[in-house]
Amino acid sequence: MITLKSSHEIQLMRQAGRITAAARALAGAMVAPGVSTREIDKAVYRFITSQGAVPSFLHYNGYPASVCISVNDEVIHGIPGHRVLREGDIVSVDVGAYKDGFHGDCAATYPCGEISEEARRLIEVTRQSFFEGLRYAREGYRLPDLSGAIQRYVESNGFSVVREYVGHGIGSKMHEAPEVPNYVEPRMGRPRFLRGMTIAVEPMVNAGGAAVKVMPDGWTVKTADGRLSAHYENTILITDGEPELLTDPDAKPE
Ligand code: CO
Repeated sequence: MITLKSSHEIQLMRQAGRITAAARALAGAMVAPGVSTREIDKAVYRFITSQGAVPSFLHYNGYPASVCISVNDEVIHGIPGHRVLREGDIVSVDVGAYKDGFHGDCAATYPCGEISEEARRLIEVTRQSFFEGLRYAREGYRLPDLSGAIQRYVESNGFSVVREYVGHGIGSKMHEAPEVPNYVEPRMGRPRFLRGMTIAVEPMVNAGGAAVKVMPDGWTVKTADGRLSAHYENTILITDGEPELLTDPDAKPE
């Protein structure tokens, strides 16, 4: 069942979303050669808790950190640790915050110093694919209109969309109905967008093939071919007009 949020609930989701977006910005600003992924995780934990919020990912299905940091051929769910970032890396940061009963969830891929031309283009196409999908995130369209727009944009730029992981509804739980795939298949559901729906749209884009594999740590997902991957995500609200980005990249915490 897809829940529709009341105006009060939307107010609370805006609050969670602002904290989540600020945590992403903080993490992104720390990406630099010589910084360890654990340092970034610690800073994000301190920031989220300082806002009276809880890191949504910490202890989720046993996940051991506040943020997922996925470097280069890591697609998603990279666990922060001793790894030290190096010039030329691309660094995907995914973070969630829970405040007053509601979650925000967002991600972005950041360059570490100077990066290759292919890496730069992958990051830009991934981010833009989100905004291509967003054009259909409004009443009058259905979910596969959004999914198809993301897929078309990514594939027409010569990259591929990950199939095994998808976006999702979000609210009082981090993962709610519906699933929000970044590709279209004939047999999937075609829910209509209605005002009050809140969803996390999150294209995961590979420079090479779409195939991925899970590492022995049980979390880290890598590209099967070892090529680069990028991620971009925002929590959004369907309205009677333009969608609202609840994890706006420009938002500041209260
Ligand atoms: Co998500």
